[in-house]
Amino acid sequence: MRHLMSPLDFSIEELDQLLDLAGDIERHPEKYAHACDGKKLATLFYEPSTRTRLSFEAAMINLGGNIFGFSSAASSSAAKGESVSDTIRMISCYADICAMRHPKEGAPMVASTVSSIPVINAGDGGHQHPTQTLTDLLTIRSLKGRLDNLVIGLCGDLKFGRTVHSLVRALARYQNIKFVFISPEELRIPGYIKEDVLEANHFPYKEVERIEDVMPELDILYMTRVQRERFFNEEDYIRLKDFYILNNKKMKLAKEDMIVMHPLPRVNEISVEVDKDPRAAYFRQVQYGVYVRMALILTLLEVKVC
Ligand code: CP
Repeated sequence: MRHLMSPLDFSIEELDQLLDLAGDIERHPEKYAHACDGKKLATLFYEPSTRTRLSFEAAMINLGGNIFGFSSAASSSAAKGESVSDTIRMISCYADICAMRHPKEGAPMVASTVSSIPVINAGDGGHQHPTQTLTDLLTIRSLKGRLDNLVIGLCGDLKFGRTVHSLVRALARYQNIKFVFISPEELRIPGYIKEDVLEANHFPYKEVERIEDVMPELDILYMTRVQRERFFNEEDYIRLKDFYILNNKKMKLAKEDMIVMHPLPRVNEISVEVDKDPRAAYFRQVQYGVYVRMALILTLLEVKVC
């Protein structure tokens, strides 16, 4: 039995197979409509979510399976003090697979050690968000045609943004990737990612504050929101929240074939006027999220479709 805690849990070859499967699902959804008949997915969300929870649920429904779960800690027995370990022991009796989001780093990992069903990390604190990374990789591969030879700018809250942490780890396994980290001083990418992932592997990267200075060199611009829920004080959040606002004027500096990605939700960091730009890929990214979660469920449940 396999769990998914980090995008690195899959080898490059396994990731290729998963993304190929997601591509086949996109082209032939009817082939997979009954692949999980009789199977049950539990979504255990101790933290708010729209996309991740609902795309997991849509994915299982598209596969013919059933879903149940909770969408906040307050509506579960966590509110009475039940531990994650005890909860997952219960859920193992009810479901075939589960997706868990938790505000504490490592909570899904703890669950996986006592679970008798596959556990998927659907986001743990400021740590990792591997299924967003699978979504991002599928989006990049589908829209740019490759996962290597790319200059990717990551912009915004690089300190708390778990999607950025997971994506950097995942892309650092491919050839000729150059990272450009665009953030205010206070929201820089954590030192442990620079040291353990980039410097240890001699990966080129640079850190800048002004998006305009690097826009012309980017193949991908990955925008992120400032993560209000992880700030210790509201004043800092208010000071930093509108540091970056991508608009049509800034988009004029970009390559014709650059794509703009965002894990969403967006707050103010991308002006709605950019939505009409053909390079805006963030809503297409959401659709890829359903295909890749369908592929992930099939892979972890070891369901083969001929
Ligand atoms: N991208 C993402 O994780 O969105 P949600 O918080 O809505 O799940």
